[in-house]
Amino acid sequence: MIAAYQKTCQTRVDSKLDELFHAPRPELALIYQAMRYSVINGGKRVRPLLVYAACEALGGNPERADAAACAVELIHAYSLVHDDLPAMDDDDLRRGQPTTHKAFDEASAILAGDGLQSLAFEVLADTVRNPLPAEVRLDMISTLGKAAGPAGMVGGQAIDLGSVGQWLDQGALEIMHRHKTGALIEASVRLGALASGEADSLSLRALQEYAQAVGLAFQVQDDILDVESDTATLGKTQGKDEANHKPTYPALLGLDAAKAYALELRDLALHALRPFGEAAEPLRDLARYIVERRS
Ligand code: IPE
Ligand code: IPE
Ligand code: MG
Ligand code: MG
Ligand code: MG
Repeated sequence: MIAAYQKTCQTRVDSKLDELFHAPRPELALIYQAMRYSVINGGKRVRPLLVYAACEALGGNPERADAAACAVELIHAYSLVHDDLPAMDDDDLRRGQPTTHKAFDEASAILAGDGLQSLAFEVLADTVRNPLPAEVRLDMISTLGKAAGPAGMVGGQAIDLGSVGQWLDQGALEIMHRHKTGALIEASVRLGALASGEADSLSLRALQEYAQAVGLAFQVQDDILDVESDTATLGKTQGKDEANHKPTYPALLGLDAAKAYALELRDLALHALRPFGEAAEPLRDLARYIVERRS
């Protein structure tokens, strides 16, 4: 079920993303090429999936969610390009291919990330790509801006880099994970709900509770996979967290307790969806997928 839903949404968002990388003039070919390379490369598209699934949970058509699905993946792709830079995690492999700074050069990777970030907000503001009422577009821009910025993902990345080689207790680790990964996942769900045109405060609150649990679970599972998966399956170098002396859930709690915690978070997420019926089934499947995935 999740595989079929995932495929449909991936195909959908991939075709929308593909439209964004045509250089408007020949002098810009290289930067557009680096941006395309960083996005059109077989990511799982979990955040767009959450956008579509949240929109569907409130009865919205997927067309309404296309721009938000693209925007959140553009921000995610930018965060990965910068996360892999030598100054950050210094990774050579991403989604099974050389990282952007390896395939191009560091300056191109920095600029590609910057360009992807700007493009995300341009897509949300665009009345053709995102033909929703102006106040909805504004709420989307504000939601994504907060989640991507210093009080969200960027802040989490700063905590991550500042924590190298340090021991963090579970509370501090949770704050780091909720920022670096949770914020964008929470924003994905909210964007999908806003896109539906049917979001009321009660459903937004329930979806936020779901997204907070799933967002943390996602990074706990990412930490687990870094320990127990392999490079070919992951498409990124296994064991880098330990090599880079990163504080992680498996390092703090041990592998078994980290796995138990991920399942606990999944159950919290499912519990938050109890007011929703059949339409929230893709969101439920995603919560299960996030802690069961192998890559
Ligand atoms: C990896 O994200 C980085 C984290 C925030 C943990 P994904 O596991 O969603 O990576 P892709 O998009 O599928 O490559
Ligand atoms: C990344 O966390 C979080 C981002 C905001 C990109 P990681 O550094 O653990 O992600 P991977 O493991 O390199 O994909
Ligand atoms: Mg990192
Ligand atoms: Mg990394
Ligand atoms: Mg990781």
